[in-house]
Amino acid sequence: MMTGHGDDPHAVGGLVRHIPVLLAEVLEALEPKAGETIVDGTFGAGGYTTAILERGASVVAIDRDPDAIAAGKALEQQAGGRLKLVQEPFSTLDRHVESADGVVLDIGVSSMQLDQAGRGFSFRADGPLDMRMAQAGLSAADVVNTFKAGDLARIFGFLGEERHAGRIARMIEARRERRPFERTLDLADAIATHVGRAPKDNIHPATRVFQALRIFVNDELGELASALFAAERVLKPGGRLAVVTFHSLEDRIVKRFIA
Ligand SMILES: C[S@@+](CC[C@H](N)C(=O)[O-])C[C@H]1O[C@@H](n2cnc3c(N)ncnc32)[C@H](O)[C@@H]1O
Repeated sequence: MMTGHGDDPHAVGGLVRHIPVLLAEVLEALEPKAGETIVDGTFGAGGYTTAILERGASVVAIDRDPDAIAAGKALEQQAGGRLKLVQEPFSTLDRHVESADGVVLDIGVSSMQLDQAGRGFSFRADGPLDMRMAQAGLSAADVVNTFKAGDLARIFGFLGEERHAGRIARMIEARRERRPFERTLDLADAIATHVGRAPKDNIHPATRVFQALRIFVNDELGELASALFAAERVLKPGGRLAVVTFHSLEDRIVKRFIA
């Protein structure tokens, strides 16, 4: 098993990634070989899956985002039966494979998702306040406009480790009475205006709130814990698990699970 933080030089505000991070480390930990079956629980742009296929293994690749699955269809056809794409949350991985030699999870959003303003993940480009990887269910706007200030404060504080969680939650509750939040930049600007930017802060004042909303909307921590249990059920004796985490909450879950 291996776990690692995805701290790469392409990160902006701790969020943006353009190349598969830690690919060499993931391949070293997974050791995919011809004839083996590997589950890639976070297909994304297919960077890991492509490298695993090149080593001769078969891949069951999962992503809950219909756009990621649609973009992977050409690769599935080229792979001559060695790639099966599944549009599901990765917590269900044990329903799509009976046993596996390796499981890899590269947690978080893809650059494809972040770069498309219409998906509403970014506080840098204006888009609908959405953030749903699966493009279904409760959106970030639903949470921001309907949850009580106390619940918003807990989400921002716990999932975003935001110092001003209570202040921001109360500001949101007051402002939405006049005009609900529908756009990413509207929320980002309201937070920036309300809490300001500390001179030594090198991240946007809305970074932590956006992270918290994204984790909440996509139940990212619950998904991760369930996927670890599911991986344990399908891994053969001697099987390998590689998890690339992006922040300390995920890292803690993986390390405690492995311990
Ligand atoms: C960081 S990207 C993966 C990038 C990939 N390793 C590559 O090489 O292109 C994360 C992907 O995982 C997907 N994802 C995140 N959480 C998921 C979950 N719980 N179930 C299924 N897919 C998930 C996202 O939709 C996104 O496409």
